[in-house]
Amino acid sequence: MNKHFLEIENLARRFPSQSGELTVFENANFGIDKGEFVCIIGHSGCGKSTIMNVLAGLDAPSEGNVFMDGIEVAGPSLDRGVVFQNYSLLPWLSALHNVTFAVRSRWPGWSKEQVREHSYKYLEMVGLGGGAELRKPSQLSGGMRQRVSIARAFAIQPKLLLLDEPFGALDALTRGTIQDELVRICDATHQTIFMITHDVDEAILLADRILLMTNGPYARIAESVKVDLKHPRERGKIIHDPGYYPIRNHLVDFLVRRSEELSGGVVAEAPAQAAGAYPIEVNPAARAAPARTNPQASAMDAR
Ligand SMILES: Nc1ncnc2c1ncn2[C@@H]1O[C@H](COP(=O)(O)OP(=O)(O)O)[C@@H](O)[C@H]1O
Ligand SMILES: [Mg+2]
Repeated sequence: MNKHFLEIENLARRFPSQSGELTVFENANFGIDKGEFVCIIGHSGCGKSTIMNVLAGLDAPSEGNVFMDGIEVAGPSLDRGVVFQNYSLLPWLSALHNVTFAVRSRWPGWSKEQVREHSYKYLEMVGLGGGAELRKPSQLSGGMRQRVSIARAFAIQPKLLLLDEPFGALDALTRGTIQDELVRICDATHQTIFMITHDVDEAILLADRILLMTNGPYARIAESVKVDLKHPRERGKIIHDPGYYPIRNHLVDFLVRRSEELSGGVVAEAPAQAAGAYPIEVNPAARAAPARTNPQASAMDAR
């Protein structure tokens, strides 16, 4: 019996490589509950997008399984919406039609007016009403284009929304504004979300739980950190919450120190002041990782 809405069991992805085989990650085990917002953090190249592609059904795992609502994920589906860093809008359609196009395929029986109304509602949520919805992608700024992608993803109300560094290409100011919009939409819709980011502040602002991934190859999900800060969260205020910096320090310490140590199979101790401050689940498989004799792993160690 599956405990979580989304269940990831013993997942591994390996690619053929010059030296035989590249194990990007292995032994990934985690679950996501309905309505939960889970972020995954890890250094560039550790395998975050690879995991997401498997969850989306765009790539098949080498080992293990993904179940959503008790059904195995075996290919892409409108039940899972994906937003990538580089907005994939159809350039010849207006913002509105980029959304109506997706909404129509999701609910083919809907009337034209119903589709338009529904689509416009989501564009308004991301601040793209009042005429902006009629512009083509080439007439929109990078931030506005990414807003269209987000509106489109939420509009089809997928059972699971997958976001792969959706704000990675945006300047800090635009990024902040869209983060605020995302906070509002999430509070309103309770959409289930799995999001990749390497921005710890973004993760704390948005997530209910943050998964920490060790460096690759042989990356593992080492910890699951619960973000117990109350909702609604605001970017300007959240940093004054006494719970903010203990979590932030823990995440930064993971990224600068433990992500590397754990990837070599060394047991790194979590900082002492963290004990009891916020709930952390340590994945025992990550701690028990044997030292690798794989040439790729040694090459990494030598650097
Ligand atoms: N199709 C592929 N074939 C071979 N190697 C791949 C493929 N896709 C990803 N990789 C490798 O997997 C590792 C993780 O990549 P990726 O998931 O994109 O990392 P991240 O998203 O965490 O930055 C990288 O070393 C990358 O080169
Ligand atoms: Mg990536």
